[in-house]
Amino acid sequence: MSLLTNTITYVKQTLENVESGHDFYHIERVYNNAQLIAQNEPCNLLVVQLAALLHDIADSKFHNGDETIGPKTAQAFLESQNADPEVINHVVKIIENISFKGGNFNRTFNSIELQIVQDADRLDAIGAIGIARAFNYGGYKNNPIHLPGHDPKLNMTKEEYKKHRGSTINHFYEKLLLLKDLMNTPTGKTIAEQRHQYMLTFLAQFYAEWDGEK
Ligand code: ADP
Ligand code: NI
Repeated sequence: MSLLTNTITYVKQTLENVESGHDFYHIERVYNNAQLIAQNEPCNLLVVQLAALLHDIADSKFHNGDETIGPKTAQAFLESQNADPEVINHVVKIIENISFKGGNFNRTFNSIELQIVQDADRLDAIGAIGIARAFNYGGYKNNPIHLPGHDPKLNMTKEEYKKHRGSTINHFYEKLLLLKDLMNTPTGKTIAEQRHQYMLTFLAQFYAEWDGEK
């Protein structure tokens, strides 16, 4: 069996009982979108595919915040497959850097393969899927869906905004609506723009319904 087939099987098995935000369906969507973006970029397709498949293999949230657990797990798996050391090194660097949260990793690493997988991962946090994942996460955390009068609208200052965390609608302003401007690739940007508009439509409808039919 090929390295790719083995990796798919391994990831599927490993993520079998994982919460739905980072389950294998998330990986499948990121994998598909990464391959779509890769069609328009000169890149090492195998590195893109492996990094997309392995990018959420172990979440630091469930390992006492240890941000090295994901990259280490991916490295150990790829070594067990006798993958090309250069490929392993690149995939590990992508996983370290894809959702940099302030750990000790080398912030300066960059490659087109990282940019592609990062775009694909970000696309899955916006649009209809992004909305579903956000409310799923908020439900899991028992957060309110909306805190009227508290959720920041787009024109809030940073200081005003910091006092008003907590609801899932708030997460749109904290993260989801910012993602379209962080996209790396032209293909990623185009898809993100359309998903962004969908979220704005959703929010407008949400507020209208919240305020009651007039
Ligand atoms: P990533 O997979 O990009 O590293 P996270 O693990 O932080 O992101 O989040 C996984 C999913 O949960 C994403 O779709 C994200 O938007 C959503 N999410 C994270 N934090 C919140 C929050 N406070 N409220 C609602 N959704 C959230
Ligand atoms: Ni992810």
